[in-house]
Formats: sequence, structure tokens, C-alpha cells
Amino acid sequence: MEINLISDTVTKPTSGMLKAMMSAKVGDDVFKEDPSVNALEEKVAALFGMDSALFFPSGTMANQTAIKIHTNPGDQLICDKYAHVYNYEGGGVSFNSGVSCKLVDGHRGMMKASQVEAAINPPDFYHSPLTSL
Ligand SMILES: Cc1ncc(COP(=O)(O)O)c(C=O)c1O
Repeated sequence: MEINLISDTVTKPTSGMLKAMMSAKVGDDVFKEDPSVNALEEKVAALFGMDSALFFPSGTMANQTAIKIHTNPGDQLICDKYAHVYNYEGGGVSFNSGVSCKLVDGHRGMMKASQVEAAINPPDFYHSPLTSL
């Protein structure tokens, strides 16, 4: 098996993984009738101590949906300068959610709480976008 860590999309599935995919129990996920998705969502919900979880087939879909849920148009989110949501995803944050990004100069993509705190706009200063995420 070739492992290439430049991206999760480069590594190819092994024959065991392909076999598991081909023999997976499937159903209509919209009607919650896909046993594999249901089992995955239940497992992840338990893992994070939540009532439920929702499976997204791509990272971009999950990121864009999460941003949409947690913001309103005109808001601002804080992220590291290397964040995927800022550098990639087709600029989807501005199109899908109407938000801007305030960049933090983290260490290899990791931000400190103090950096995030310093990047939050004053909530009572209406000239600045509202920091909401
Ligand atoms: C941090 C991060 N977010 C999102 C994505 C996008 O994931 P996808 O290609 O499944 O849309 C990637 C892809 O490599 C990623 O590294």
C-alpha cells in the first residue's frame, strides 16, 4: 500500500478496503435507511458525547455547512493563515455564507487561544464585522 501524506486524496485504497466498500450494507441515507451511515453517525455521536451526528461525504461540504450554521452574512470568522477554508474551497465562505476571514499567524496551522482572543472584533463597534466563529 502506497501512503502519500500530501493529501488524503492521493493514498489509494487497499484491496481489503475496496472489498469492504463493495460488500458494505447500503440504503437510502435520506430516509435514514443506510445501515453503514447510521452506524457511523451513532459511533461518532457517542465518541463526542453528542445526541446525534451527521455524515458528510467530503471535508469541503462539512466545512461549508458548519460555517453557514454558525454565522450570518456580514460576519467574520477567525482562522489560521493556512486554513483550508481560506486558501481553498473556491472561496466558498464568501459565496455560501457571505462572511470574511480574519487571519491568525499560527504555528504550522495551529492557533493559540490568546491569538484567537486578540483577533475578536469589539462587539459594540459597528464599523467592524461581527466575529462569530
Ligand atoms: C483541512 C482540510 N479541510 C478540508 C479539506 C477538503 O476535503 P475534501 O477534499 O473531502 O472536500 C481538506 C482536503 O484535503 C483538508 O485538508
